Amino acid sequence: MTSCYKMNKLKKDFPIFNNNPKLTYLDSTATSLKPKSVIDKLVEYYSQYSANIFRGVYKISEKATEEYEETRKIVADFINARKDAEIVFTRNTTESLNLIAYSLGREIVDKDDEIVTTIMEHHSNFVPWQVLCLEVGASFKVIDINDKGYLDLELDDIKYKKSNIKNTYQILKKIVTEKTKILTLTYISNVLGTINPVKEIIAAAKKINPKIITIIDAAQAVPHLKVDVQDLGCDFLVFSSHKMLGPTGVGVLWGKENLLKEMFPFMYGGEMINEVYIDRTIFKDPPHKFEAGTPAIGEVIAFKEAIKYLKTIGMDKVREHEKKLALFCLKILRREFGNRLKIFGPIDENDRGGAIAFSFGKYHPHDIASILDEEKIAVRAGHHCAMPLHNRLGVNATVRASFYIYNDENDIERLIKGLKKVEKILA
Ligand SMILES: Cc1ncc(COP(=O)(O)O)c(C=O)c1O
Repeated sequence: MTSCYKMNKLKKDFPIFNNNPKLTYLDSTATSLKPKSVIDKLVEYYSQYSANIFRGVYKISEKATEEYEETRKIVADFINARKDAEIVFTRNTTESLNLIAYSLGREIVDKDDEIVTTIMEHHSNFVPWQVLCLEVGASFKVIDINDKGYLDLELDDIKYKKSNIKNTYQILKKIVTEKTKILTLTYISNVLGTINPVKEIIAAAKKINPKIITIIDAAQAVPHLKVDVQDLGCDFLVFSSHKMLGPTGVGVLWGKENLLKEMFPFMYGGEMINEVYIDRTIFKDPPHKFEAGTPAIGEVIAFKEAIKYLKTIGMDKVREHEKKLALFCLKILRREFGNRLKIFGPIDENDRGGAIAFSFGKYHPHDIASILDEEKIAVRAGHHCAMPLHNRLGVNATVRASFYIYNDENDIERLIKGLKKVEKILA
């Protein structure tokens, strides 16, 4: 566990641990903690050049605009977008997905068409599409999971790992058709932790229907592993700054330039127009066409510090670290609690991210989380905005412990101790 040890040193970069020295934070899937460099950048903007962007012809507004646009470049580079203009800043992943549903979905999906998603989606990649289908009378098709927490592509674990376009194609052919206008799915499940073979799924879907629009919800992927939009071959990819060390209030919508150009704006108002007359308006080109009104300027500016921080560690190292923690946690949970504790999602750490959801005996997840909180261990309890998935799993709620770069094996050992206390109190 050498890398875990090294990573442990990162805690000093996160001021929250100075203020809460006993905190074991295991809820990064909900939102991550922020390093000092991000907080400092926010303070820099608000204390040195907190002007509005684009409008001013004065120095501090120019400085703010420069800083804002530099973040766009850094985001584009981080996910290997072809152009900075393909990066649209929104409020969060949820807004990015709704933007696509409104601006593109409502234009291209008609009665008798289909939208395909999966049962493991977060509500923000489920409800907008379900509502759209209900509105226009299209079919809403949902790919199921198997008992091991993988997408039900009828592949056993070994085949799944080796999944290639050929076998994914055979299975997907039963679900995706020429009528499927949109395929939208999560890269990593926020409950099961499953890493989906999105590249293969996209390639297979495009082979079945070359006109299909593919959308990746990468809210749990971009913070945790290297994501390359060109390599994945998708049309859109979305994520949130706050889950990857950055400030809240900033989401990213990456889209292929030609699609963004064709799409109507999501919101109308200031900053997204070139010319306005009584009878017509000429919109700006993307990405500004989609950024109506004053954005979260300071937060976008500080977001780049989060990316710089992750780049300094290296995304391969981030992934390696979380894989080791997941393996350690899965092993120790099984060893200490056996069948009393049911882990949902893949048991192979290679196929999963750092979110581990479980149920524990008959104890209510909220009671478990409350007892852990007394020990200063922060975990999440509930349906984690994935009710269809919890219904599918046959449970109302689960406890979820999730890891990020600042966690180490001590945090997991404290979790185990806390769970033993839960058993003592609730048994
Ligand atoms: C997979 C996934 N998609 C979407 C979201 C929504 O993100 P946000 O609340 O930042 O819009 C989350 C948040 O947990 C998530 O885990």
